[in-house]
Amino acid sequence: MNDPIPFDRLNFFLEHLELDPDSPDGLGAHRAAFQQAGGEFGRHFCQYFLAIERTRLILEQGDNLAQLEKILAQWFHGLFSQNFSQEFLAYLWNSGARHVQLSLDQRFVNMGYAVTRDFCHGVIEKSVPSAEQEQVAKVVDRMLDFCILVATDSFITMTSRCDRSMIEGIAHQVRNPITVIGGNIRRLQKQAEPGSPAQQSYDMVLKENQRLERMVGDIAAYTGLFQDEPLSEPCDLAVLLEEARSWVAARGLLDGVELTMELDPAHSVALGDREELVLLLRYLLENAAEAVEASEPLVRVSSGPGSTPGFMEVAIHNTGRPPSQEDMEQLLSPFHSSKPMGTGLGLPISALAARRNLGALSLRPGPRGGAVCLVELPAPPEN
Ligand code: HEM
Repeated sequence: MNDPIPFDRLNFFLEHLELDPDSPDGLGAHRAAFQQAGGEFGRHFCQYFLAIERTRLILEQGDNLAQLEKILAQWFHGLFSQNFSQEFLAYLWNSGARHVQLSLDQRFVNMGYAVTRDFCHGVIEKSVPSAEQEQVAKVVDRMLDFCILVATDSFITMTSRCDRSMIEGIAHQVRNPITVIGGNIRRLQKQAEPGSPAQQSYDMVLKENQRLERMVGDIAAYTGLFQDEPLSEPCDLAVLLEEARSWVAARGLLDGVELTMELDPAHSVALGDREELVLLLRYLLENAAEAVEASEPLVRVSSGPGSTPGFMEVAIHNTGRPPSQEDMEQLLSPFHSSKPMGTGLGLPISALAARRNLGALSLRPGPRGGAVCLVELPAPPEN
């Protein structure tokens, strides 16, 4: 409940709906008619939702009904008197959090806004001179559209936070047993006769345990991507690639692999979040190196113009088995892996990072065998 409120985003919505809190909004003296209707609105709203089985059950719990009638009367009054102050924005956003806590289906909240809109149009018909009705209705509709945006933003943020903390919790709980199992297997392995069936079994358990260990790391990388909004800054591809390369090399994944970089100087800067782009390239390099042909272990990275103006392309080629139709179709599906020890999260993480940075990722057979992974990313405007 103490999560930060994304005021920047909420103010951005306000600005785009032309609801500047500091300028006259066209409601003028008519605000009073709405403020006076607060109590009636609270009662009307609750009566409406008492007639729906699912929401009636929520309203009949404890003193929800009496509370909500009061809350909605105040909310309605505040909407027409507080001029979208930061305080009112916080109140609105927190109501979304409260609804998630109550497991209230967001569709009912949206229905609530339809009820509110109807009610407001009734107030306008009754209290606003006909010559001004259209203008007042236009402003009120925009105000309600803004409230729906805030409620939806809050709902999405809260629910994805819940999902993420559940996944992070599971990954955290799994990490300890993995470490204990790994330690014990290594000890047993040392005691076993070399080449004995017992040692072969320990080897297998250890490998599977390492796969789990990687999966926990990959899950952390996946959920970490949702932590902050991506920045959009010019990033030098050579620098990003060097960072990604050294991460992959430090894990021994480039041992024996020949890696070449052929960056086009005219297409060597991408616009995006530096950390997310490094993660994207890290997983692509790792994936390309792991799937490389053992007798000809080559990975080549090149860059060039994107398929649409304003974009650039990074291509990662490798030798080895070309991707199957299924590999290409399942690119974004977590846990689909063509490698025996793969976690199936590498490409979905890269694809997610590409999408978050307004880019795209695709996989196709290489022109001379192997596979090529193409990443399109926004490029800075040309001078
Ligand atoms: C226009 C749509 C809606 C608005 C603007 C709205 C607004 C609010 C606000 C401002 C709060 C207080 C939050 C807080 O204390 O932090 C609240 C709480 C609540 N809302 Fe809504 N709400 C809407 C739709 C609904 C609907 C459709 C239901 C369904 C029955 C509902 C049920 C509740 C309940 C049960 C509470 C908690 C009351 C309490 O704390 O005792 N709301 N709502």
